[in-house]
Amino acid sequence: MRRNTGLIKFFFPAIALYLLMQTVAAQNSAFTRLSPADSLKVETLLSTMTLDEKIGQLTLLASDWNSTGPAMNANYEQLIRTGKAGAVLNFYTVDKVRELQKLAVEESRLKIPLLFGNDVIHGHRTIFPIPLAQAASWDLASIEIAEHIAAAEASAEGINWTYAPMVDIARDPRWGRVSEGAGEDAWLGSLIAKARVRGFQGDGYSDGTHVLACVKHFAAYGAAVAGRDYNVVDISPLSLYEYYLPPYKAAIDAGAGSVMTSFNEINGVPSTMNRWLLTDLLRNEWGFRGFVVTDWTSLNEMVAHGVAADVKSASALALNAGVDMDMQGSAFLNHLGELLKEKQVTQSAIDEAVHHVLRAKAELGLFSDPYLFCNKKREQTEIMTKESQDFARKLVSESCVLLKNANNTLPLSPAVKIIAVIGPLADSKIDMLGSWSSAGKWEQAVSLIEGVRNRFGSQARIIYEKGCNISDSQVSGIEAAVKAARESDFVILALGESRDMSGEAASRTNIDLPGEQYTLAEAIIKAGKPTTVVLFNGRPLAISRLEQIAPAILETWFGGTQAGNGIADILSGDVNPSGKITMSFPRNAGQIPVYYNAKNTGRPFSNDRPDEKYVSRYLDCPNTPLYPFGFGLSYTRFTYSGIKTIVEGDRITITANVTNSGEKDGQEIVQLYIQDKVGTITRPLKELKGFKKLLIKKGETVNVSFSLSRDDLSFYHPDLKKYWEPGEFNAYIGGNSAEVISASFNL
Ligand code: BGC
Repeated sequence: MRRNTGLIKFFFPAIALYLLMQTVAAQNSAFTRLSPADSLKVETLLSTMTLDEKIGQLTLLASDWNSTGPAMNANYEQLIRTGKAGAVLNFYTVDKVRELQKLAVEESRLKIPLLFGNDVIHGHRTIFPIPLAQAASWDLASIEIAEHIAAAEASAEGINWTYAPMVDIARDPRWGRVSEGAGEDAWLGSLIAKARVRGFQGDGYSDGTHVLACVKHFAAYGAAVAGRDYNVVDISPLSLYEYYLPPYKAAIDAGAGSVMTSFNEINGVPSTMNRWLLTDLLRNEWGFRGFVVTDWTSLNEMVAHGVAADVKSASALALNAGVDMDMQGSAFLNHLGELLKEKQVTQSAIDEAVHHVLRAKAELGLFSDPYLFCNKKREQTEIMTKESQDFARKLVSESCVLLKNANNTLPLSPAVKIIAVIGPLADSKIDMLGSWSSAGKWEQAVSLIEGVRNRFGSQARIIYEKGCNISDSQVSGIEAAVKAARESDFVILALGESRDMSGEAASRTNIDLPGEQYTLAEAIIKAGKPTTVVLFNGRPLAISRLEQIAPAILETWFGGTQAGNGIADILSGDVNPSGKITMSFPRNAGQIPVYYNAKNTGRPFSNDRPDEKYVSRYLDCPNTPLYPFGFGLSYTRFTYSGIKTIVEGDRITITANVTNSGEKDGQEIVQLYIQDKVGTITRPLKELKGFKKLLIKKGETVNVSFSLSRDDLSFYHPDLKKYWEPGEFNAYIGGNSAEVISASFNL
């Protein structure tokens, strides 16, 4: 609730201040982290600030270094000097940050330090695989370490606030921003959201090496209709609670200090003015005590949404809904003063928003040392270290997913003497970075061909042909590429999307290989040499045609700085692939959305009656995806047997044997799915409820055990309460969501 700090004036300083601190401390566990000196600082500032200075703290301005929309304030330096900006984004390097922080803390009247924000989405200078790729590792510890390194590098260059994690669940790969998230599952997405927040923020973010996280985009941005970016969202309350909200909540529970509103509407109300979302749910129900920032000009965009006649009314709607800071729209800056005079907003609403922002600054340690994040020595020694490169390389190989490997095409045999590296993505460094590459330098990225040369250069001759471009209709290079393929013993064919074909404002309706790449693939594969496709992309692609002709397909996403080396580790067999996709790959775009946790319907399609007409099916395509959620192959083989369920009190234990029956040691991601067979409302056919990533030696059998409580089986009901219903359940264990062994139990 917006709090009335006007009372302070009457009792200030002693008694009221004490009482106020007690109340706020009781409401907000984060606040208890503040030292008494910082608490006093925040309250003292609040009581001495002018209205303009308060509004300044609610204003976030962007540089044009990286902008994703109109950069509106060319005069940001003057605004900082006069206390009319509380935070900036897209500025980094110690020198630049120090220069601006100096304006704030030496020239502005109250010397309030600035927040410095940036989109550190998958690394800062060391770029890690895109988030969707990292999710495919199912390795929560590694994901946390990646964010820890990202925070260390970003904070060494002056950044103290990242616009991450993006935790939007998405079932539509046409939406380019699936690359930034963890895929289609809310349960897994929640675990990853927590890991990311912990990685960015550490145990507390005032040590100068961690940064304030910003969970985005609140809420349900990933459900944009037809996968078109910025489009409306039309979602039932049940779906919202069950499939979209959990990861945001998980991130808040993990202590995320800020939240970004989304561009979309929910139930006709854009998030940036959605009081139910930002105040009733986020603050009052979930207990969030950080601050809420808009997305880039999303406040101003309420006019285009048609819910505010002008930016001024939009500003009132946003503040009254629970927005604390306006990103780049200058709407609060231009209109809050007038709105206060007209009593369209209250002083206490403004004060409360300022309080949220100042508290975050205090928690970051900025009042004790505004230059905490301006450490030249750290900037010189903690960026792109050998350790971070080694780790990035490991994460690349962990994120790769082997989609097909007929006749053990991969790994390359040591007998291979001539390797042809072909394709429009083979020699590209810049594409390796993917979208949102913060301050990553493309020149430092290892391309596929460099990685192949590094690994195989001393044992084989490497030849290269581009073949065709990524997305135009040129085919003149195909002939030379076929010649190179014929000369070689093995072909590595690098196909996919360019980095800017996914990410923000990068929706596509046709998600097959763009341009003439399929023509190239056909010609090369016809040359008859052992061939693997290496795919680069920021989303699941619809590659049914390619799947039919390619002997092997390795999904590598966009791996970041160490992409080429990490991929070569897989191609060579130095690392056995273990990644599993966290978003279903459709057979074609007409199937979208296709996701694993679908419901049965009243007329389910059955493989036993393939020609039945009046059932839920397509005439021209199976219902199943090309590659299901959780799918990924290994150079070895895992077999599942002996599933058992044991009910004890209110817990169920499910066990199964997993045998490595192949020829190599390997890691397997063992997955547990549950189906609630009869509910008061319909339930998905499968819901992921557990996983274990295990190293299993060749020939070894491991008994895997999962234990669930009744709570783990609970789900949202039409009253939006979550509880469990007794009855019969199916338990499934397997290496992906489609190929499983099963047993049932009653609980
Ligand atoms: C994006 C956000 C991003 C912001 C700042 C917006 O366009 O939607 O995800 O954090 O820009 O760069």
